[in-house]
Amino acid sequence: MCYQESKPITVIDATSDLDSVPFSPRVLYRGDCIEVMKCFPEGSIDLVYADPPYNLSRHGLSWSDKQGAGRRKSGGNYHMMKETWDMFEESHYRRFSVQWLAEVKRLLKPAGSLYVSCTYHNVGELLVILRDLDLKCLNVIVWEKTNPHPNLTRRMFTHSSEFVLFFAKGKKWTFHYEEMKKYSANGGQLKDVWHLPLCQGAERIKRADGRAAHPTQKPQALLERIISASSSRGDLVLDPFLGTGTTALVAEQLGRKWIGIENDTNYVSLSVERLKKVQGAFRKEDTYERRK
Ligand SMILES: C[S@@+](CC[C@H](N)C(=O)[O-])C[C@H]1O[C@@H](n2cnc3c(N)ncnc32)[C@H](O)[C@@H]1O
Repeated sequence: MCYQESKPITVIDATSDLDSVPFSPRVLYRGDCIEVMKCFPEGSIDLVYADPPYNLSRHGLSWSDKQGAGRRKSGGNYHMMKETWDMFEESHYRRFSVQWLAEVKRLLKPAGSLYVSCTYHNVGELLVILRDLDLKCLNVIVWEKTNPHPNLTRRMFTHSSEFVLFFAKGKKWTFHYEEMKKYSANGGQLKDVWHLPLCQGAERIKRADGRAAHPTQKPQALLERIISASSSRGDLVLDPFLGTGTTALVAEQLGRKWIGIENDTNYVSLSVERLKKVQGAFRKEDTYERRK
């Protein structure tokens, strides 16, 4: 299919009547990603980037079960968030993660690949599930945040990293090896530790009161590496947890097709506003093909 730079960005309410949900690029689907993904055809997606709930919210994270049955988790006690979309009992979180990852696997083309953002809180569960789904682990990328929040307790090391799990469905995954060298400090092979700041400044979307509009908006630089590495111009990129639309925005800028799914109406509106500003703004001068 030819890349359609003129196709307008559309929002489809996929909270009911799922039998008639169309499958189309440049669409932001509002609804539950597991249910929406079930409507899409098998083997239709080149690349998935997912930034799922980390299950950080509620009573904080605890390995032990002090908060009551079902609250056991695989990470430490650190928590900052209180988002309802990020609150799960232990067994529910596993079930949810298995379900969305199984749908992602079904949707990926044989040469497709998957990146999943996570922290030490949920990396254990995700790696086991991905192994059980028989997906191939290519890298556990460490994103070192160059501007982390300070550790106020002074009783442990400052938390300054997140992980990005890079997995492939089959053996012939896309990887633009040469292009990745531009992100390496010495121009050589790009390693699996990436030094990038948290999303802040003008890039961070703010509410009217000046506070961040979304607690976990990812930096565009992170998505630029992922999308450039593992997709080509015109490929279809899916983000099942779109949030503020970062994946779609970068895909748009890099000349990829995209599909986003997001449950929350406010975040859908934020994404649409953000995307309209860059619609069709394929940065031809930034592409590796042009600069060679
Ligand atoms: C970690 S955030 C993603 C942030 C995004 N990467 C960005 O840069 O803005 C996860 C998002 O997934 C959404 N979400 C949570 N559960 C969902 C589900 N079952 N289906 C669709 N969206 C969901 C939340 O509303 C939240 O905006």
